[in-house]
Amino acid sequence: MFDTMTLTKAVGSLCGALLILLLGKWAGELLYTTGGGHGDGHGQAYVIDTGSDDQGAGDAEEGPSIAELWAAADVEKGAKVFGKCKACHKVEDGANATGPYLYGVVGRDVASVAGFGYSSGLAESADVWTPETLSAFLENPKGYAPGTTMAFAGLKKATDRINVIAYLDQTDGDTYEMAAPEAAAEPEAAAEEEAAVEEQEASQETAAAEPAAEAPETGETEAAEEEPAAEEAAAATGFAAMVASADPADGEKVFRKCKACHKLEDGANGVGPHLYNLLGRDIASVDGFNYSDGLAGNDGAWTEDELSAFLEKPREYAPGTKMSFAGLRKEEDRAAVIAYIQSAGQ
Ligand code: HEC
Ligand code: HEC
Repeated sequence: MFDTMTLTKAVGSLCGALLILLLGKWAGELLYTTGGGHGDGHGQAYVIDTGSDDQGAGDAEEGPSIAELWAAADVEKGAKVFGKCKACHKVEDGANATGPYLYGVVGRDVASVAGFGYSSGLAESADVWTPETLSAFLENPKGYAPGTTMAFAGLKKATDRINVIAYLDQTDGDTYEMAAPEAAAEPEAAAEEEAAVEEQEASQETAAAEPAAEAPETGETEAAEEEPAAEEAAAATGFAAMVASADPADGEKVFRKCKACHKLEDGANGVGPHLYNLLGRDIASVDGFNYSDGLAGNDGAWTEDELSAFLEKPREYAPGTKMSFAGLRKEEDRAAVIAYIQSAGQ
């Protein structure tokens, strides 16, 4: 027979356990869905994005961020974790099996292998596979992409996920660059966030851009001005005209996505070739830079239109390109970044 006390205790502990479970789930979701790049209406995707959503700045308090884990990732351990995937996936380019081939999957558009029959659940889950989106998907495939045909329960340990992602990342011989954990938040649209991040960045800004140029920018005006200006230009005559009327200051912001790999100073090659004097320069012509055949196979010089085509879909323009960058989907972003490169790197 139950006395009331035992019953109360039993019910109480049950509720407690449920609450902890829910809280854990919520915290997990918060951690792994930030910076996924989907659902924010930008329709834009790029490789260097370490958390552009509102919570970006808060990640550090929630435990090790993906950027931090990424910095310590272990490819060899990842190769072992990949043992769990091997039954269905190959890492050789073009080798589909039960699952699509995973060559170069980090930075690749979601559900983009031609000829593979994806579920719509996966196709709608995100735009680009970044370490963040991959981690969220691999943690709980069915939760992340409801209706996915990937019959895999998930990798519960964050280190397993990051290690296997690091392993996958080097399959195309080109590693994904992620900003240092402190600089992880990439300002995107929200003005408040911009202001907060600006401070952080000021100390980090050693790469390509002049910190001085950013100082006079205030968060309030930018977000409002960007779009209309670019739309007017689009109504004019073609893409070159759009570049001519684009605001280099907007382009400087877009260029943050390129900075990890490109410098504007003559001769300063990084992961990518320097972009000094880019317009009119022959394609793949920087001395001493080891280009892929995919890019080097293109004749002619970089015009506004060629650059736009390349930057929109690098891998379509130059199949096999070494540039692990998913592309700039918005025409006005492409115009602005070209205007900036032209004004700052000439
Ligand atoms: C039982 C077979 C199976 C296993 C095991 C499996 N996958 Fe998959 N995977 C699939 C299938 C099938 C798809 C396509 C899913 C869809 O369309 O919904 C897929 C899709 C993916 C994608 C998306 C690729 C793209 O082109 O968008 C990634 C990334 C991925 N798997 C990684 C992994 C990793 C990493 C592991 C191991 C930790 C793993 N998978 C284990 C079958 C599997
Ligand atoms: C993850 C590193 C990375 C990022 C990010 C990146 N690039 Fe690149 N980029 C490269 C590499 C590597 C190459 C050489 C590609 C090849 O040989 O296939 C390249 C090549 C180029 C070229 C061709 C240059 C030439 O000499 O022909 C241009 C133009 C370019 N990138 C512009 C950009 C712009 C603009 C952005 C940002 C919107 C950007 N890249 C982002 C790595 C990157």
